[in-house]
Amino acid sequence: MNQTHIIQATTQWVETKMSGETTGHDWWHTWRVWNASLKIQAIEGGNSFIIQMAALLHDMGDHKFFDGVDKTRETALYWMDQFAGISNEEKQHIADICEQLSFKGAEVDTNMHTIEGKIVQDADRLDAMGAMGIARAFAYGGKKGRMLHEPSVKPVMHKDFESYKNAKGTTINHFHEKLLLLYDRMQTKTGKAIAKRRTLFLNQYLETFYEEWDSKDFDSL
Ligand code: ADP
Ligand code: NI
Repeated sequence: MNQTHIIQATTQWVETKMSGETTGHDWWHTWRVWNASLKIQAIEGGNSFIIQMAALLHDMGDHKFFDGVDKTRETALYWMDQFAGISNEEKQHIADICEQLSFKGAEVDTNMHTIEGKIVQDADRLDAMGAMGIARAFAYGGKKGRMLHEPSVKPVMHKDFESYKNAKGTTINHFHEKLLLLYDRMQTKTGKAIAKRRTLFLNQYLETFYEEWDSKDFDSL
């Protein structure tokens, strides 16, 4: 199978597996990350095959699908092993990207070291910001039975993945614990430019949220 066919087969498999998932890891999330990765790649370069495969496979073994156990690396390798057209080096690179991609807490360093990794990670991070990120955060919070906001509960800057993963904070705190921190961690110039706009929108949203919370918008009547 050539690379185009491998990407086609992978797309079909991922779409089938992820359709209907409702914790923010549905097929359309992967589709947006794939698309955004290609947009960044067109400007910043990098190996398009590696980038596309990593974008497509990045959430297939997520710990949220496997009772908290991360199976990203093995799921990606399991899928790729059937194709003779991918070298071992490529497989390892793609699996490395998938494994290291996820946000694991405010104080955990998960930055990538290859251009392909930086691009897919930036694309994944962009989908957690802006209008899309807000929608995903509340969808995730609802699914997990989280409160929208509780003024007495303050955001926590998680120092390790365990505490981040097990936290039961409010969805508004998730903005402070993750979403607003992403801008500083963007690794490509193109990703950062888009992140700037999307972060601005997050801040505008939060400002309005707090204003409405206290009925401050009545003040300007
Ligand atoms: P990724 O795997 O893309 O790094 P996550 O698995 O951490 O991202 O999260 C998937 C989506 O759900 C993201 O949009 C993220 O911001 C959101 N999310 C994750 N944890 C929470 C949470 N505790 N509260 C609200 N939204 C969350
Ligand atoms: Ni993702």
